[in-house]
Amino acid sequence: MEQDIKKVLASEEEIAQAVKRLGAQISEDYKDKNLLLVSVLKGSVVFMADLMRAITIPCQIDFMSVSSYGSGVKTSGVVKILLDLNNPVAGYDVVIVEDILDSGLTLSYIISNIQSRSPASIKICTLFDKPSCRQVPIEADYVGMKVPDEFVVGYGLDYNEKYRNLPYVGVLKPEIYEKP
Ligand code: PRP
Repeated sequence: MEQDIKKVLASEEEIAQAVKRLGAQISEDYKDKNLLLVSVLKGSVVFMADLMRAITIPCQIDFMSVSSYGSGVKTSGVVKILLDLNNPVAGYDVVIVEDILDSGLTLSYIISNIQSRSPASIKICTLFDKPSCRQVPIEADYVGMKVPDEFVVGYGLDYNEKYRNLPYVGVLKPEIYEKP
């Protein structure tokens, strides 16, 4: 995998620091609340596993899986629920855990979907934010770090379902996704 990476954008240490900061902030903000972390699979699985262990207050977890990208690089805007939450969210203070906020299409769909189930509150925590790519006006309440408009993989992020297991985040060499 290493040879397909043009440059490292966020090292393991930088990611760990960002996760620790977000965990501490969420622990403080939700200490008197009913925290439910909702991980949007599959990309956020690595971040979720680390973030929940950086949170020092009681919390519950649940998972949702939606599709929006297919196997290509650009978003299609098509969102379909592949896996729904196991439990009702009514009364819970939901924090949606995402690996990356790009066009915002996925999260705007998920927010309105979860909002319709009457949670006590709903906020967004994304490890990476690509603000230059937004197609809908949506911002995260908790952001690990901003990244430029480049094709990033690793720490849960994939290209064609590969590279998710890289422990850092890197920019993919264009020749990998430009192959005919
Ligand atoms: C990625 C990522 C976010 C979404 C962000 O998921 O995990 O869910 O795209 O992009 P957007 O802001 O443009 O909607 P993807 O659909 O690639 O699925 P995956 O998590 O299974 O990799």
